[in-house]
This record gives sequence, C-alpha cells and structure tokens, in this order.
Amino acid sequence: MPIAIRKAQRINRLPPYLFAEIDRRKREALSRGVDLIDLGIGDPDIPTPSAVVEKLLECASKPVNHRYPSSSGMGEFRQAVSNWYHSRFNVKLDPAKEVVSLIGSKEGIGNMAVAFVDPGDVVLVSSPCYPVYHIGTAFNGGKNYFLPLKKENHCLPDLDSIPADIAKQAKLLWINYPNNPTAAVADKDFYLRVIDFANQHNVIVCHDAAYTEMGYDGYRPMSFLEVDGAREVGIEFHSLSKTFNMTGWRIGMAVGNSDLVAGLAQAKSNLDSGIFQAVQEAGIEALKLGDKIVEPSRKIYQERRDILVDGLRAVGLECEKPQATFYVWVACPKGLSSADFTAKLLDEAGVVTTPGNGFGDAGEGYVRFTVCVDKERLREVAERIRRVKL
Ligand SMILES: Cc1ncc(COP(=O)(O)O)c(C=O)c1O
Repeated sequence: MPIAIRKAQRINRLPPYLFAEIDRRKREALSRGVDLIDLGIGDPDIPTPSAVVEKLLECASKPVNHRYPSSSGMGEFRQAVSNWYHSRFNVKLDPAKEVVSLIGSKEGIGNMAVAFVDPGDVVLVSSPCYPVYHIGTAFNGGKNYFLPLKKENHCLPDLDSIPADIAKQAKLLWINYPNNPTAAVADKDFYLRVIDFANQHNVIVCHDAAYTEMGYDGYRPMSFLEVDGAREVGIEFHSLSKTFNMTGWRIGMAVGNSDLVAGLAQAKSNLDSGIFQAVQEAGIEALKLGDKIVEPSRKIYQERRDILVDGLRAVGLECEKPQATFYVWVACPKGLSSADFTAKLLDEAGVVTTPGNGFGDAGEGYVRFTVCVDKERLREVAERIRRVKL
C-alpha cells in the first residue's frame, strides 16, 4: 500500500493556475501541427553573447570552481555588481555589505519573504504583478493587500488609497518599474512618494528592477537607489537574465540597505549554496561588457516593439507604445474577457499571449504580448489577427 501523501497547506492554498488552460490549448494546437507564434513568455530569444559563454567554458575547468560557492556570492562578483551600479546609475555600493548574489532574482524575491515576513504580516503588492511577490508572502503566512494598477494613474499604485489600518500593519511594499506586465515606467517623483510612505509607516521597500536596461528611444530607466532616502528604506532586486540574455544561467543580485541585504543573505545561507562560480565569472564578464551587450538588444527590441504595436493598432487594438520592457499590454476588444481574447488569439490566429488576469484580478480586460520572436514573425501577428472576428 502506498503511504497517504498530503501536500502542505501552503501548496493547497495556491490560487488556481490560470495559465493551465492556455497551456492545454497550446499543446493541443501543436499536436494538430498549428504553426504557433508564441508571444506568451518573457524570455529573450537572442543568445547570450559569445564572450560570456567563452568565459564560462574557460572557468568551468578550474578545480577551484568545482567546490561549494558562497551563497552570498564571490567577492569579485559583488565588486563587479558594485562597479556596474556605479557606472550605470551613479550609485555607490559597498560590495561586502550592500550586495548579495542571487540564483536569479526570482530566488531572492521568494527568499525575501522567508527573511522578513512573519505569519499575519501585511505585504503591499500591485495587481497585476509578477506573481512571486505575493506567493512569497502566502508561503510564509503573510497577508497580501493588493494595490490595483490603473491606467488613469499610469499604472502606479495609489499609496494614498491604502486604508490607515492596513498602512499601519504593512511590513513590506513591492514595486517593479519598468513593470511586468503593464510595461509602465516610474519617475523620481513616484519614488520620492514611496520613500515618504515607507518612512511614515515603517515599511520596507522592495524594488524589482529587472527591466531597467530595456528602455527605448533614448530613455534610460532609473534605479530606485538613485533617489535620496532609498537606501534607508529599501532593497533593489536586479538580474542578468533579461539584461544580458542569460535567463537560463540563473544569476542576479539584490542591493541596497545593508540590514536588508544581511537578512536576505542569512535566509539564503540556510537554504542554498550559491551560484556555480564559473557562472559568476561569466556574469562578471557580462557586467564588464555592459552596454556593449545591451545596446544591440535594445535596438532589436525597439524595432520589434514598433512592428508589433503598429500592427496591433492597425487592426484596431488599443495599446500604448512601451518606453521600456519587452511587453505590450493590450486592452481586450469590447465584450471579451482576458481569457476569451487569449483563447480566440490562440484558436483562430495561432498567436500565444498571456491573459492579464493571470497576473492578478486588476489585469482583467488586458492581454500581454511579448516581442521575443523575430521581426518577420511579428509582422505576421497583425496579419493573422486581422482575419479573426473580434
Ligand atoms: C518582473 C520580474 N522580476 C523578476 C523576474 C525573474 O527573473 P530572474 O529570476 O530570471 O532573474 C522576472 C522574470 O520574468 C520578472 O518579469
């Protein structure tokens, strides 16, 4: 007799997986031989630069790299992060105390809650958002309070709308600009309001900056840490994934307030054993090359963005041209929900997108497209949608 296996309550309490139905339809279409254009996933199709790959090959054979790495990262990697923050944002970071390596920023985002969220703690999270923020809270017994991102507020959370008792109980606030999935951007004024709110209510600010390097038409998104007072209240999560086309490598970093960095590092040291050192050495190479890698990618994404947005608008769909990220946030045609529109695009046009409500209730009425396929395929998207009865 097999033993009775019961999943932990935290797993049973997970919200229904809204992408499962899309996955099922996608598999079914593929099995019918449908030529799908997959704009569902935010994963660069551009390969990692060869200089970075070569560094990995060179460093993979060094015996010193075959042993356990430190979970906080090699000194040289943390120094490279500090140098990059200085050259890119003019932010000075102490590599020993204000930088910790992450096995991709997703790992650090999840472990932030392990380090700082107690059962019953309130965590302020945007809706829609990258789901790991609220899953981390839920797994650790905290309570999420969702702040809707509305078009009329340029998809920035309205901090004044937070009831006084919630603000009082709040322990953490998650923000993410340039934003996934809305592609919204934030300016210094917004960050100043966030810092003010954090000081007033004693709230830790966690800024997810994964997309700062993906800005177009000369726009360069800022780091939260550029703003006076940010280091006193916050920590910023960053990643080599989207910046250097390294999603598969699993390497990122958290930087900022030394107590927050130390808390996260303490949680991590009890749970993981860091990043393969050869990957860290390759990451150092990527950070050193910096804009030499990023600029060609920006050009590619900007051109693709123009093709996709112009095409979608030409077929009557409503969307803004994003200043940053590789996402396009498209309003559903009248009468269609996010799920309906996504299903129609898949079934009738063979175009895979992500329903906005998969990122939270306030994402209902929208669908997210990515530009992670080549120009020719993106041109085809509008042509295919033109044939769909909307
Ligand atoms: C907003 C945001 N943050 C973090 C991540 C995680 O990136 P990684 O774990 O590859 O660093 C993603 C990935 O899609 C994302 O969209």
